[in-house]
Amino acid sequence: MDYRNDFKFLKQGIIYFDNAATTLKPDKVIEKMDDYYYNYPSNAHRGDYNISIKASTEFENTRSLVKKFINAKKTEEIIFTSGATDSINMAIYGYFLNNLKKDDEVLITKSEHASIVIPWFDLENKLGIKVRYIDLNDDYTFNIENFKTMINPNTKVISIAEITNVIGDKRDIKEITKIAHENNIKVLVDASQSIGHVKIDVTDTDVDFLAFSAHKMLGPTGVGVLYGKEELLNEISYRKGGGTSISFENPSEIIYKDLPYKLEAGTQNIAGVIGLSEAIKFLNEVGLDYIEDYTNNLKEYLVSKLENNKNITMYNPDVEGSILIFNVKNVFAQDTAIYLNNHNICVRAGDHCDKKLHDETNMKNTVRISLYFYNTKEEIDKLVDALNNDNILEESIL
Ligand code: ALA
Repeated sequence: MDYRNDFKFLKQGIIYFDNAATTLKPDKVIEKMDDYYYNYPSNAHRGDYNISIKASTEFENTRSLVKKFINAKKTEEIIFTSGATDSINMAIYGYFLNNLKKDDEVLITKSEHASIVIPWFDLENKLGIKVRYIDLNDDYTFNIENFKTMINPNTKVISIAEITNVIGDKRDIKEITKIAHENNIKVLVDASQSIGHVKIDVTDTDVDFLAFSAHKMLGPTGVGVLYGKEELLNEISYRKGGGTSISFENPSEIIYKDLPYKLEAGTQNIAGVIGLSEAIKFLNEVGLDYIEDYTNNLKEYLVSKLENNKNITMYNPDVEGSILIFNVKNVFAQDTAIYLNNHNICVRAGDHCDKKLHDETNMKNTVRISLYFYNTKEEIDKLVDALNNDNILEESIL
């Protein structure tokens, strides 16, 4: 199947391999947002006139689509935020800040994104909780046995990505959650890299909180989702006070609305949320099984081609998924990225917001290629040809 014609951007001839940072947006997503801005550019949930009612209806349609997409039980469990970082922060500062106490333990790994690590370290400072790292395997993938051995009566939370943004390994969230719940441990999942790549079913996995961004699943930037079990979301006190979140106010009493509105104060990113609906429809049409298979095969192809280049060190060639990190011998990662940019190829270089993993391994900075279903073997051939050059450093001039 070829979906490349659905993305006007691809007609520029740029090879885009930075999908873990953000995916491209199909024309339909952009047109949907244009339609809002041109034809019914009103606020949602506030107006008693047709175009505002339309905006509200489209906004709530997206919520229903998200609910179905991740198989949540209720639309009330879907909270729109500005992105996965905002969602994770809402769960940590809104729920866990009030429900953890000194010496409680939170389990993460050294492969987690900064948006997980930083709020938890802040809670360590604020509450005296302990953030502990579950040891990874030698190839930096998750080890479920190591998770089990870390559990003790003080363990209260496990907070990890379903798919990590550097190594790209997929964790068995259902099994992890089962073990966690048997031990009264809450589960907060960062689904930023798994959304739009693999099927997510929050009812089947039974996770407590799950966070993701629209822009990593063909949608616009500035929109995210926090899924949470209704009873947990109801306990969240991370409220921005403002319009639509309250139903009654006087100097002594503020009555908050019911979920989801009490956690969505202020005017939302209406165009973005509405645009997300087209992204979900597009993903449903392409099919997540197809996407997972396609990107796994493409990665295998990439690895098989790069294996022939003796100047390249790959760090996660055997990890199934859509992400490959590597370095070119004697070339700093950013220089490789600049060199590839000169060939119209976009990749990310650096520590990818995971300083811990890079600091504590022999990887230091790396070049990351992250694939999606619109990438092709022909694009990979062009990358491989570009990397078959002994003068990368000399030619890495902006
Ligand atoms: N978290 C995003 C990435 O890995 C931005 O590139």
